Amino acid sequence: MPVDLNNAQPLAWDSATLDADTKAMLDNLQPNILRAHVREHLSVLFVRFNDALEGRAYLRHIATTTMKSARKHLEEVRDFATGRRRGTPYVGIGISKAGYRDLGHSVEDVRKFGDPVFRDGMKRRIEQVADPKVEEWERVYQREIHAVILIGDADPGPVGRLRAEILGALPESARLLGEESGQGMRNPAGDGIEHFGYVDGRSQPLFLKDEVDKEPKKHWDPAFPLGNVLVPDPFAPNPVRHHGSYLVFRKLEQNVRAFKEIERDLADDLGLAGADRERAGAMLVGRFKDGTPVTSRRKASGGPVSNDFTFDGDDGSKCPFSGHVRKTNPRSFGRNVLMARRGQTYGERTDEPWDDSPPEDRPSGEVGLLFMAFNGSLLDQFEFTQQSWANNADFENPATGHDPVIGQGARDIKVTFPKAWGKPEMSVPQGQVAQTVTMKGGEYFFAPSLAYLRNL
Ligand code: HEM
Repeated sequence: MPVDLNNAQPLAWDSATLDADTKAMLDNLQPNILRAHVREHLSVLFVRFNDALEGRAYLRHIATTTMKSARKHLEEVRDFATGRRRGTPYVGIGISKAGYRDLGHSVEDVRKFGDPVFRDGMKRRIEQVADPKVEEWERVYQREIHAVILIGDADPGPVGRLRAEILGALPESARLLGEESGQGMRNPAGDGIEHFGYVDGRSQPLFLKDEVDKEPKKHWDPAFPLGNVLVPDPFAPNPVRHHGSYLVFRKLEQNVRAFKEIERDLADDLGLAGADRERAGAMLVGRFKDGTPVTSRRKASGGPVSNDFTFDGDDGSKCPFSGHVRKTNPRSFGRNVLMARRGQTYGERTDEPWDDSPPEDRPSGEVGLLFMAFNGSLLDQFEFTQQSWANNADFENPATGHDPVIGQGARDIKVTFPKAWGKPEMSVPQGQVAQTVTMKGGEYFFAPSLAYLRNL
């Protein structure tokens, strides 16, 4: 039975009754798509091939010597949980439209990818998402990137060794155009955070029964069909069993100092005092720093970060319609837009991102997010989120403003904020907060099936 990508039932991947096609799908799928792989330390390599045969042989070599399947990853997670042994590093590959051409696929062939955003490539989608001009991107991203290679692990050692091995195997004809390295950051509670100091990566579409079973589901159902991230791999030997996923990569620099000034000024403007001052930033993100949704009044002390909530009944007096998590997942509609985020923070800092140090002590650049997300459709998921929700000041209601975290384009309308949590009194209209996240470049990739890579 072909894998049903629309089945809303989460996948019981280790069930004895799993059908042969689904088993084959898991044996041929890259890890980190259906379930996030540990990538506390992450190396990102951008490669250009220049010779079809050598490029193919190189990818085949990496796939057969360093990559594991999604199923192997899931087994490793299960074994680790039972205290048996720790997992192996993650190696993932994404190929751009230009990469497929350079590997010898014809223009006709590349049309087999259903996603027009992928077929265009990121440089040709600037207008749609209000990205900076390509000339303003970092140099590596201005070039024609053919493939991205991701190497991740809990420790730096294995990442360094694999990076050297993978670069060592690069043929003469190919080039390493550039690279990034990501490193996870955690707050004292042990939760992963981003550079503004907020818990990140909590809300995800979940596809596997063991992950879904662990979540409370009174208000929000985190289970999504496989088609949310998987599409048949058009060039694999058997697209009925062999799947891939569209990967968006964006380097997003964060001006932490400016964001912290904005939080402080907004708290002052609204006259927030004491613990309530934290609500300023929470209204911009939609969650408090510790991850508590701003729809809940008080931060719960300790315990897991909640994801079982909606914005139903909140007219914007708890979480403004512009709040980052409300914009990117309104929760009462647009479920099929949500993507599987797999990014990692980059850049070194000497301060503690979660504490209350003044803005002056914060970095104003050189740190940020290597934003990555897997999609079944870049057009309907990533690009739709950025264009129609984050950049749209009239989203859900007129003049509610851009997403204060990731919104791009002129922020020329005025907005209001609730003065007290859940109360109707609004502030006087004020200019929208300034943009503090800057896109430095990126590309759209397809993470092909292992069956494709092994057969190159
Ligand atoms: C959630 C920060 C870029 C889409 C979040 C959360 C934080 C955050 C703190 C809350 C944690 C969670 O709910 O998991 C940031 C920062 C960014 C950034 C600092 C840039 C530097 C993006 C981009 C997109 C995006 C570019 C897509 C266009 C989402 C989505 C969620 C989320 C879909 C989950 C919302 C939910 O399901 O409730 N982000 N983000 N983020 N972000 Fe971002």
